Amino acid sequence: MKDQYILVANWKMNKTIEECGSFVDKFMNLILHKPKSKVIFCPPFSALLYMDGLLKDTSFDLGAQNVYWEKEGAFTGEVSAEMLKSTGATYVIVGHSERRQLFGDTDESVNKRLKAALSNGLTPIMCIGETIKERKNENTLDVIGRQLKNGLDGISNLDIEKIIFAYEPVWAIGTGERAEPNMIDEVHNDIRKVLNGLGVDGSDEIAILYGGSVNQNNIKELLELNEVNGFLIGGASLDADEYASIIHQSEQI
Ligand code: 13P
Repeated sequence: MKDQYILVANWKMNKTIEECGSFVDKFMNLILHKPKSKVIFCPPFSALLYMDGLLKDTSFDLGAQNVYWEKEGAFTGEVSAEMLKSTGATYVIVGHSERRQLFGDTDESVNKRLKAALSNGLTPIMCIGETIKERKNENTLDVIGRQLKNGLDGISNLDIEKIIFAYEPVWAIGTGERAEPNMIDEVHNDIRKVLNGLGVDGSDEIAILYGGSVNQNNIKELLELNEVNGFLIGGASLDADEYASIIHQSEQI
């Protein structure tokens, strides 16, 4: 157990404004104190400003699910870092495997998104992880190394230290098939080694989250992992009762 975990709710393409309102109403009645963990909500773009209003005087933080690297211009459908900041968001998920797999994100575009976020003062949550084929071929550590090195290319060590990393094996996302604790520890260790290799100071201090089928029933075992600083949670964060239970368990209440 650590003193403080980072718990990120990635709501993906879920929740209308009305549904965000009902969630927060219920959630606030379940979490009556300031949690020890840092709790971050990442709703869809359409609900950022509304959620900012609801979370304003609370200890909860707001993040977006993606960012485009240009400042402004003819980029239909895209949202810049400055626009995200103007909604009140202070975090942004970058390189989620759904963006990589379904929307053509590459290490190169992830790199541009990270730079845009960092230069505008947003804290990126950088996602990395292998597919099932890559794991079966025993390529996990190579893939992680490549995603980190290419994704972080040209970013100063000072800025790398600001990034929150999230290991999300693609095969564990939304499948109910959570990675085994020893696999998680191994990859998290390896991420720290790659960062050390890049010359990042204090990479022991860098936050590395795990994501992929985390829920209220399996979180306890994961909280005990030395290498895990928190969780990026999809499905289980959509339900106020379940997310509150995860938060409570993260502080042994
Ligand atoms: P699930 O928790 O639904 O598996 O999703 C994980 C995820 O992709 C969080 O970013």
